[in-house]
Amino acid sequence: MKKVIMDCDPGIDDAIALTVLLAHPEIAEVIGVTTVGGNVTLNYVTQNAKKLLTFLGSKAELASGQAEPLVKEIETAGEIHGKTGMEGYDFPAESEDYPLTSENAVTFIHDKLVASDDKVDIVATAPLTNIALLLKTFPEIHDKIDKIYVMGGSTLQGNITLAAEFNAYVDPEAAQIVFDSGVDVVLSGLNLTENKAFMTMDEIKSIKELGEVGVMASSILDFYASAELEKGMTKIPIHDACAVISMLNPGLFTKSHNYSIDVATTNDQFRGMTYPDRRVYAEEKNSVKVLEDVDRDAFVKYLLDSIKSYS
Ligand code: RIB
Ligand code: CA
Repeated sequence: MKKVIMDCDPGIDDAIALTVLLAHPEIAEVIGVTTVGGNVTLNYVTQNAKKLLTFLGSKAELASGQAEPLVKEIETAGEIHGKTGMEGYDFPAESEDYPLTSENAVTFIHDKLVASDDKVDIVATAPLTNIALLLKTFPEIHDKIDKIYVMGGSTLQGNITLAAEFNAYVDPEAAQIVFDSGVDVVLSGLNLTENKAFMTMDEIKSIKELGEVGVMASSILDFYASAELEKGMTKIPIHDACAVISMLNPGLFTKSHNYSIDVATTNDQFRGMTYPDRRVYAEEKNSVKVLEDVDRDAFVKYLLDSIKSYS
């Protein structure tokens, strides 16, 4: 049984990812959920986490974290996730009452790791601000982290800009800190989430048949999928589900390569680009396990079965 902390910015694909994660108590005990400003501002992100945890009947401890990235001001993605970040479904009114254990995700995660007898996995599906601060503030805590499963970056295309993926773009300094930390990182970048682990619109539409959780997931995905279609995407990436499923079922990911990765922290059009060092004589500055391919049909089935399992 793994112990897992999920750091997220729900955000619709984060919501799907957290729903998948909480569907597998037989694999992962979720000892904490933490939030960070990203897709929408921290207040909305944290409100959305409360809505989802209440709806799914979870008792996972929740802590809010950093509202802003380490250096620059936050840039959000309301065009993809809607103003509040998770519109489209009428969540329980009592969601507001979901307890917030802490408003300091960094000390919350630290304390959870210290208290755990076993190493803990972290799934990070947002700008890496909280995780970078954790690793910098408490260097000794590295030994209590098994792996950090990150959705972020890309070894090919960007999304928020031609060069950068959104999470890395919002906080590139944090991403570089995490990549350089020496903790094992398993990376689901856009090269995987958009090019390989995508869902078709028919597969997305089938979600509404998967019970009440499927109705919720389908309802919030409607806005997200329509925004992706408006961008001209025909293959819909549920980005954050890749990071969660790479932790729950790593065998589905059929190709990976360890690279040293540099993150552009310049103030130009390349800010947030995550560039792997493919030179045969590359110096080992850091080593990130970049996931490069997946059994897509099995991935989609696992995601759908996870949603269906609540019924
Ligand atoms: O680029 C995709 C990532 O940015 C996902 O984590 C999505 O939720 C947004 O945070
Ligand atoms: Ca996210």
